[in-house]
Amino acid sequence: MVDLKWWQTAVFYQIYPRSFADGNGDGIGDFIGMLEKLDHLSDLGVDALWLSPHFPSPNWDCGYDISDYTGVAPEYGTLEDFKTFLRAAHARGMRVILDLVLNHTSDQHPWFLESKSSRDNPKADWYVWMDSLRPGGEGSGVRVPPNNWQSCFDGEAWTYVPERGQYYYHYFMKQQPDLNWHNPEVRKAMWEAVRFWLDLGVDGYRLDAIGTIFENPKLTPHDVPFDLAGIRRASELARTPAEKKQIEKYWYDMFKHQWAQSGMHELMKELRAVVDEYDGDRLLVAEDENIAYLGNGNDELHLVFNFPLMRTDRITPSHVRRNQKERLTQLEALPAVRGWPCNTLGNHDTSRLHTRYCDRQHDAELARLHAALVLTLKGTPFLYNGEEIGMTDLVITDPAKLRDTMATWYYDRLVNELKVDPQEAAVRAGEMSRDKNRTPMQWSNNPNAGFAPHNVETWLPVNPNYRNGINVRDQQHNPSSLLNYYKHLLQTRKESAALLAGEYIPLHNTARDYLAFVRKSEDQTILVILNFSEKKLALDFSRTREIKGRSLQILFSSAERLKTVKPPYGLAISPFEVFIAEAQARAKT
Ligand code: GLC
Repeated sequence: MVDLKWWQTAVFYQIYPRSFADGNGDGIGDFIGMLEKLDHLSDLGVDALWLSPHFPSPNWDCGYDISDYTGVAPEYGTLEDFKTFLRAAHARGMRVILDLVLNHTSDQHPWFLESKSSRDNPKADWYVWMDSLRPGGEGSGVRVPPNNWQSCFDGEAWTYVPERGQYYYHYFMKQQPDLNWHNPEVRKAMWEAVRFWLDLGVDGYRLDAIGTIFENPKLTPHDVPFDLAGIRRASELARTPAEKKQIEKYWYDMFKHQWAQSGMHELMKELRAVVDEYDGDRLLVAEDENIAYLGNGNDELHLVFNFPLMRTDRITPSHVRRNQKERLTQLEALPAVRGWPCNTLGNHDTSRLHTRYCDRQHDAELARLHAALVLTLKGTPFLYNGEEIGMTDLVITDPAKLRDTMATWYYDRLVNELKVDPQEAAVRAGEMSRDKNRTPMQWSNNPNAGFAPHNVETWLPVNPNYRNGINVRDQQHNPSSLLNYYKHLLQTRKESAALLAGEYIPLHNTARDYLAFVRKSEDQTILVILNFSEKKLALDFSRTREIKGRSLQILFSSAERLKTVKPPYGLAISPFEVFIAEAQARAKT
């Protein structure tokens, strides 16, 4: 097999620490809990873990507002607990990457507290401070923000601080002030924090929201006829494709001056150089789809996500084909080292794939197809905790129970500004809230789904469907469960050089009902067929160049099927079948 790095062959699993496992009985996940569940993860067969932020935080954005970059949030445990967890993961052969939030800190971070205290303190220039620039602003007695930019979470992007008589900028909540990355001292301080965890042995970082790091220096205002609450409401009310398209354009235009601005490549090179001081091929993967961040293949990031794959209402063969064609062509066109793909269908910010892409009729079958897709396409797959047991969204319609403050903010605006009926507002807020996809992991059918002791109120409600078999313990004992299906699929992937490393060659490019492709490495050719329809198919691959004249040894199937050898024609594929077979040496005639 070609020489691949660990992060190219690994399957990643995202742990959302708050919701993973509560080891000390306070209703919040923690490191003791995570430690106890490592066996589940190694049993599942994943190779690497990505931890959403575990740092001290006032939790305005569930940990993505960090007040100490080198600590552990007390509710998750101590630094010792972290080290024990890391050692135990490594002992099981699993790597661990952390979340690195560069764009902003918490407004309670000592850096910000100092920065906001005066215009001339040593950290005065560590954040993005502005005077009011609009005519009629400074001096006129009327205070107005520097421009009409919006925060993507809570209205205006500028918040006034009387101590400085200035505004600070925040792309996210006002409790998440943007750092000034033009300041070399900020870089130095952050790279020290990066080194802190690398010194402890972590295997890399997932970089949060890097597109938001720089802003248009001209502060060009947006020209969209809405503010944030207005555009959200308009998105909900848009019905026709033309209306939806128009709103999409508005979203883009509203934020285009606050996103993907120049300066990023230099910054990513600097960060890469820090990471490359360490041995062990530490990884940088960005929450961004822009392959330009892969640099020349060696000098910026290792991976960026293929987000366009999940930007759809339904996973269809034609969507996947189009996506792969575009993505792989772009990656292969990169100079020098080829870019490596990275696929995912869900994370802590999106509706769970089991809810988003299922049709309420064939959910079990579709869940299996989606898993197979992400685990057989070329590239590094990222799974999100709970996906392996088919966890679904839980829409919380009691605003008092919401913890995602972006949703509570929206609820408030809907009711108080847009005068929407509170009941409807509660449903809208619950639906847009990311709480729905962050509910506690379902470990068993004990009360609280075995996530926390039965008499404890969990930080978010537990989805009651844990009682209906959507939990780890019940599925462990059921050979035909989704959990065992994932295990089996992960094992099949691990044992196949072509699935790990091979080229992706699409087949039958106009088929509407199924996706067929070959994964081909030097020594192995694998045929993958994903039947997205309820039709039984009879397929013929006898004219496919890579397979012609070769019989097929079945490696994996979601249907009741013996591991037999079949010719490449007259191939009967069951409804919704996931079929993976290896082409044998050419038959002798
Ligand atoms: C990223 C995170 C998201 C967070 C935001 C601000 O998009 O995934 O959860 O709210 O950045 O840090």
